[in-house]
Amino acid sequence: MVPELEKATVRMKNPEQVKKIISLLRKGGAGRLQVISDFDMTLTRFGFNGQRCPTSHNIIDNSRVISEEGRKKLKDLLHYYYPIEIDPYRTVEDKLPYMVEWWTKAHNLLSQQRILKSDIAQMVKESDVMLRDGFNIFFDQLHQNKVPLFIFSAGVGDVLEEIIHLAGVFHPNIQVVSNYMDFDDTGVLQGFKAPLIHTYNKNNTVLKNTEYFQQLCTRTNVLLLGDSMGDLSMADGVADVENFLRIGFLNDRVEEQRRKYTESYDIVLEKDETLDVVNGILKFVL
Ligand code: C5P
Ligand code: MG
Repeated sequence: MVPELEKATVRMKNPEQVKKIISLLRKGGAGRLQVISDFDMTLTRFGFNGQRCPTSHNIIDNSRVISEEGRKKLKDLLHYYYPIEIDPYRTVEDKLPYMVEWWTKAHNLLSQQRILKSDIAQMVKESDVMLRDGFNIFFDQLHQNKVPLFIFSAGVGDVLEEIIHLAGVFHPNIQVVSNYMDFDDTGVLQGFKAPLIHTYNKNNTVLKNTEYFQQLCTRTNVLLLGDSMGDLSMADGVADVENFLRIGFLNDRVEEQRRKYTESYDIVLEKDETLDVVNGILKFVL
């Protein structure tokens, strides 16, 4: 029913169960569906031509507006905290304080750099960020079928909105919850708006606006897309989930994380830089 599921990148613990969920999603059709997705390394590529692609934070960190010293400090933070973020042998509870520390330090450093609101578009244009192959089919399919897309990101909201906007796919069915920059009256960055969203608090606790999910209460079929174990709680705010399909992109430390991912995500996509499988499922469902 979905030929893309035969791709070599696909891992499923229970293929029969996946088929059943997909059939139920199809039965419910567009009117019952909502999509909840992470942004960095889920909708964007993890790598291209053997090089890592930037996250929304990295786009700012690597940009020309950051001083040499600032860039070094931000890179040091990344090298210290990223291995903790993805460490398969540490618990989420253990990682939590480190994540708060990382985001807080990074946001403080960025706030000392005199970044202008008007710099963002240029930073994105000059960066190596890439949406995953097939992104236009993904965004357009959801838009055409009036399926709401909730992007829940621990990245930088202003940057990710610009990426989607520049790609020409920022359709009105999209809602974003992320870390937004706070600019003063003259357009200079002075901090980030609360609440701070990091990898492991992407759940109800940071969703002030639970109204969003209440409005969508008839959309009881949920497709969740993520790349981190922390992304699995993104749909916690949906009150009555009837059918739930979780697709996880496994980008890094694949061998060590395979087991954990296949236990938690219904479909795991290993080192797959495309949205082919997601698009194939949507084509069948919508
Ligand atoms: O959109 P998403 O929720 O995936 O964004 C979070 C990602 O941004 C994390 O996976 C983390 O590795 C990355 N990050 C970063 N620089 C920071 C903080 C987080 O690249 N200062
Ligand atoms: Mg991510």
